[in-house]
Amino acid sequence: MSEQVKSKKRVAEHGEVFTNEREVNAMLDLVKQETERIESRFLEPACGNGNFLAEVLRRKLKVVDARYAKSQSEWERYAVIAVSSIYGVDILEDNALECRDRLFQIFDEQYTRLFRGDCNDACRHSIRFIFERNILWGDALDFTNPVSKQPIVFSEWSPVNGSMIKRRDFMFKFLVQKTFQTSLFNDEGDPATIDEPVKDYPLVHFLKLGEDVANEL
Ligand SMILES: C[S@@+](CC[C@H](N)C(=O)[O-])C[C@H]1O[C@@H](n2cnc3c(N)ncnc32)[C@H](O)[C@@H]1O
Repeated sequence: MSEQVKSKKRVAEHGEVFTNEREVNAMLDLVKQETERIESRFLEPACGNGNFLAEVLRRKLKVVDARYAKSQSEWERYAVIAVSSIYGVDILEDNALECRDRLFQIFDEQYTRLFRGDCNDACRHSIRFIFERNILWGDALDFTNPVSKQPIVFSEWSPVNGSMIKRRDFMFKFLVQKTFQTSLFNDEGDPATIDEPVKDYPLVHFLKLGEDVANEL
């Protein structure tokens, strides 16, 4: 069996055929500049175990290395920005979990290679927390979790005053509708409602993400 396929059943039920590295790179090269912009946002609505997102993260971290490897605190700050702009959804829970772990490993291998014994567990914790919020188990067609049927909610992370992060949560459904806002008539109707976050969080230091209850998953 090729590593692009996990089982015939999964292919039949979910169209699960993973994209190989050469195709991933060729496709990402079509938007090369964006893949090398640390803060550019990427969302993959059927991310599988993360073939595209992993390559996007590698490319962004390469830029972070080139610009900031001389200062650990700057590298950490920009790595958080790179990570926080990468989003994924998959309908199969194991894929979402595998994708999260894979992306975290890519970050952690690079972090450990650069800073070895000086690595900061608070940074690892913040990065893990962001992946837990950004890589979600969900159905990208009806915008809910396939079992709980709860709406998928994504977090927007915006750097403020250098080291602080503002988190705002938005319903995935509304983010998609917002793209078509000018032409779309929908049940919720009012474009102003579509723009509103479902939750707004206090500013938090980038090394303290997920530390307190106010920043729960
Ligand atoms: C063709 S694979 C591609 C995976 C990955 N994007 C890649 O290129 O390697 C399709 C993926 O979409 C997922 N999927 C199928 N239906 C979905 C849905 N309604 N919402 C979210 N993910 C879905 C499958 O579980 C599978 O991982």
